[in-house]
Order: sequence, then C-alpha cells, then structure tokens
Amino acid sequence: MRVERRAVDEAESRRANGPDWDRYADEYQATHGEFLGDVGFVWGPEGFTEAEAGVLGAVAGRDVLEVGSGAGQCSRWVRAQGGRAVGLDLSMRQLQHSRRIDDQTGVVVPSVRATATALPFRDASFDVVFSSFGALQFISDLEVAVAETARVLRPGGRYAFSITHPTRWMFADDPGEAGLVASQSYWDRTPYVEVDDATGEVSYVEHHRTLGDWIAVLAGAGFVLTDLLEPEWPAGHDRVWGGWSRVRGRLTPGTAIFGARRA
Ligand SMILES: C[S@@+](CC[C@H](N)C(=O)[O-])C[C@H]1O[C@@H](n2cnc3c(N)ncnc32)[C@H](O)[C@@H]1O
Repeated sequence: MRVERRAVDEAESRRANGPDWDRYADEYQATHGEFLGDVGFVWGPEGFTEAEAGVLGAVAGRDVLEVGSGAGQCSRWVRAQGGRAVGLDLSMRQLQHSRRIDDQTGVVVPSVRATATALPFRDASFDVVFSSFGALQFISDLEVAVAETARVLRPGGRYAFSITHPTRWMFADDPGEAGLVASQSYWDRTPYVEVDDATGEVSYVEHHRTLGDWIAVLAGAGFVLTDLLEPEWPAGHDRVWGGWSRVRGRLTPGTAIFGARRA
C-alpha cells in the first residue's frame, strides 16, 4: 500500500471506502467495541459522551437518523433514551455487527445499507440527524450529503456530527511526539489516498475541509450553526486510538463536534 495526495471524486471514494470498511469492520469492532459500548454514545476518541454534550437536544419521542452508523452503538443509546433511531451505513460488514449487537442487547436499531449522498428517505422524515465520525470525512461530495440531510430533516430539526478536528490535517497521523510537528498545509484540501500496490486501485480515501469550509457548507444548505465543541483530553484517559493520544490531546484538539439547526 502506498500513500498519495491527489484528487478523488465521489464514485472513486465510495468504491474504495465501502470495501475498506467491510475489510476493517471485524478488527474495528474487536479493538474499539468495548470503548464505544454496545448501548453507548461517544463523540470520539476522547470519550466525550452525548450525555455530557447534549448537542442533539432531547431525543425521546423523536425520529432520529444516524448516518455512518457502523455497529449502531450511538443509535442504540438514543433508543435507550426513548428516541426512534435508525442507522445507515455504506458497509455491509459494519451493519452485520450492528445486527449482532441488536441480538445480544435486545435494543434493535433498524438499519439500511446506503450512502450519505443519497439518503433513501422521504423529505422531512426526521427531527434529528447525526454522525459520530460517520461518513462525512470519507465523502467527496460533501455539499450533496449536507443538502440530503437538510432535505430529510423537518424544519427546526437538529443536525450534529463529529469529525477529526480540521487542524489535525497539519500534522502526521502519529500519536507520539512526531504527531506534534506541523508538516503540511491546513489549507491543502487534496485528499489523503491509499493505493493498493498490487492492483493500483484506490483502497482508502479521506477528505479534508477547513473549519471555514464546514461553516460555509452548513450555511449553504440552510443550517444555523449552534455549537462547535472541541472536547479536551480528560485527566486519567490513556487510551490510544490511531493518531489520538494523551501526548497530543493535552495540547491540540483531536475532535470537532458541530451542532446546527435547520432553518
Ligand atoms: C469511524 S466509523 C464510525 C461508525 C460509528 N459511528 C462508530 O463510532 O463506531 C465510520 C463509518 O462511516 C461509514 N461510511 C463511510 N463512508 C460512508 C458513506 N458514504 N455513507 C455512509 N456511511 C459511510 C463506514 O462504513 C463506517 O461504518
């Protein structure tokens, strides 16, 4: 596998990331499942929970969609609070894990395999749409995904999502000291691409947007920004998750959580 920085469109991003998440799902759930909690809602590797953040507002009795739901842990938490959460994910293997945990816990998240840029729901179907590190940074056509979210939300509905904090793009994805040295431009939006040496095909893609880009896309789709949370690394939290660690977390934000209201 080799790493490149180059333009990748939506079709190629999806062709790479769906199978990549299918391949990675077993390891992902084995490594992070306990931390996520079968009926748990964390917004990122800092362990900041929705119970602490409250960025979704009250979910009891609400129709809720999770985009990039993975194994459905967050939606299961929403269901435990009385919300009618449903999941959506590109990866069949992630959704199989969701079904497994449904059976184990008895808290069932009805889920669909689809992509964030073409939501298979009628207009104004939901009161809340959210993503916890789901889908958004894997998408090239972000404007389409955010417009789709606006379409399926009812007027006044809540939209919240977490992503890798955009400032992290400047640093190597390394949890150690090397990950504290700025080495690439914050403003360079050229996607991060992994290419399979054997086939020459793109096998993984991540897309970067600056904080200003995110605000422009939300405003352009008719959202009013209400929150931008940057959870601090908690005392006593020593878990390493990819490039997230105490070494970096005590100095720089690793996760950004946006909250918005559909006008
Ligand atoms: C980092 S995981 C997050 C899943 C879950 N929220 C969690 O915290 O474990 C990202 C998820 O986004 C999904 N995903 C990637 N691209 C997507 C797309 N275009 N549409 C929907 N889901 C997508 C992946 O399959 C994966 O399950």
